[in-house]
Amino acid sequence: MEVSIIVVADENNGIGKDNQLLCHLPADLKYFKQLTTGHHILMGRKTFESIGKPLPNRTNLIISRSGKPIEGCLVFDTIEAAKDFAEKNKETELFILGGASIFLQCIRFVDTVFLTRIHHHFEADTFFEPLSESQWKRVYQEPHLADAKNAYDYSFETYKRITDK
Ligand SMILES: NC(=O)c1ccc[n+]([C@@H]2O[C@H](COP(=O)([O-])OP(=O)(O)OC[C@H]3O[C@@H](n4cnc5c(N)ncnc54)[C@H](OP(=O)(O)O)[C@@H]3O)[C@@H](O)[C@H]2O)c1
Repeated sequence: MEVSIIVVADENNGIGKDNQLLCHLPADLKYFKQLTTGHHILMGRKTFESIGKPLPNRTNLIISRSGKPIEGCLVFDTIEAAKDFAEKNKETELFILGGASIFLQCIRFVDTVFLTRIHHHFEADTFFEPLSESQWKRVYQEPHLADAKNAYDYSFETYKRITDK
């Protein structure tokens, strides 16, 4: 099973503020939906709460120590248990949705990072750890200019691990 992070970050690697995303970028939501639909998605409890509902047509795996059930989702008290569940369920590509704490704990076993870079500096309180150039290679970059629906310039970027896990 491949494991991929999908993340949207600003020029400072900011990813959130007050448990919300930094901005609304419809083009990125469309890209996110295209990539993740049909797959298992893994996220921390705070990220789930910020989304507020299970994402449709995906198997929502939530990581929480509380043990509280969440309707429409599967709750796991360890990341390993959620990953094992996806693997046993014959998933081919598990998507790690965040937030920051989950990205930090998962990066060591991630193969691919789909990063949407918003070319703007926001005020943020949550960050994505920068990918080191010695371990990650950018293999794809698709720049877009702001338009009527998307207020900021942005780029879809793909990074692949170039070292052993
Ligand atoms: N820009 C992006 O792409 C993106 C993506 C996702 C999230 N975000 C932003 O990131 C922020 C949230 O990130 P965050 O780091 O604060 O929270 P988070 O990672 O979403 O959730 C943290 C929670 O996950 C659970 N957890 C984490 N590690 C665990 C482990 N090893 N075992 C069991 N449970 C574990 C705990 O839940 P319990 O407290 O219930 O035990 C913990 O409080 C928000 O601002 C959100 O909007 C941005």
